[in-house]
Amino acid sequence: MQFLQNVSLKSKTTLQMRSNAAWYGEARSAEDVLEAVMFARERQLPILVLGGGSNLVLSSDIDGLVLANRISGCELTNEKVRLGAGENWHEFVSQATRQGIGGFENLALIPGNVGAAPMQNIGAYGLELADRFISLNAINLDSGESVTFDRSDCRFGYRESLFKQERLWCIISMELEPSDELRASYPGVHSWLQDHELEATHESIYKAVCEIRTSKLPDVLSHPNAGSFFKNPVVAVSVSEALQQSYPSLPSFPDSTGVKLSAAWLIEQAGLKGTAEGGFLVSEQHALVITHDGTSHFAELHRLIDRIRSRVLERFGVELEVEPTIYPG
Ligand code: EPU
Repeated sequence: MQFLQNVSLKSKTTLQMRSNAAWYGEARSAEDVLEAVMFARERQLPILVLGGGSNLVLSSDIDGLVLANRISGCELTNEKVRLGAGENWHEFVSQATRQGIGGFENLALIPGNVGAAPMQNIGAYGLELADRFISLNAINLDSGESVTFDRSDCRFGYRESLFKQERLWCIISMELEPSDELRASYPGVHSWLQDHELEATHESIYKAVCEIRTSKLPDVLSHPNAGSFFKNPVVAVSVSEALQQSYPSLPSFPDSTGVKLSAAWLIEQAGLKGTAEGGFLVSEQHALVITHDGTSHFAELHRLIDRIRSRVLERFGVELEVEPTIYPG
């Protein structure tokens, strides 16, 4: 495996942050990952594992080894799916749906690679990865040890997992369980199917999700972004009730730990759509997305994050939490 020095990462994250890696390498197998662990240990370099770069904000140059995960593999049957962590997530969902292997269609068009899916327990339109997860294999970046994790080991939560919290693992492969279950009750999906006079099937839900996402979310190719920039905040029932009194149109959804509010709504109602700092902009198309024209640095993004958080806190008394990983944090 080749290790390169002083490599630009601008094109390697979808937010196109300007950042250089002191060292950069691409792993195509578990053996390559082990070689990278040894290389980094000899030089006392921290390792940052890079997947599709769609949920990562680089806040400065990287004084370590950036290891791009390019491990391939895609075995699909009706009982089990086995994927290499470097495969593109949407291509897998698309191929599975075409082959009549259901249960993943709600997660169509989520950017990024397979390895990133368990990192942040990707979710959309009423389904999250944890619902279909069997196990994954990962290598410990300190010790080189190879470990298999089942669902209960992964500490999956809302856009959370052990892997996102610890950043100590390079995911090698993952096994998922297909399902015949159809999840078509999420408001946008339900009304899309009605409007198009379609029965809910794996294929029609796939189509609905692709169309909704394409129309709602800014295209990452023309408007670099990192998807939802904030989590939807979960507040106590009493807090949500008080807010609903003043703002009856505030979208809210019951959650296991309280009530989940729409961060997009809070940001839009706080008058922040279209707010800019340098080349960073709160998207006019979807308030939860920050786009970047590729020219600015993290200091400007930091100012924009502060403005959004403090305005929403001032106006609604609700704290917003950044969703993508900021590295170095
Ligand atoms: N809304 C606004 N203003 C906007 C956009 C939306 O007020 O500019 C309101 C809508 O009216 C709607 C509510 O916000 O009632 C929710 O909007 P949407 O259905 O677009 O979903 P979201 O809560 O903003 C979450 C996920 C998305 C996921 C969608 C669909 C988070 C942080 N985001 O967004 O995930 O695709 O639901 O399930 O949970 C991602 O994580 O990167 C991501 C895109």
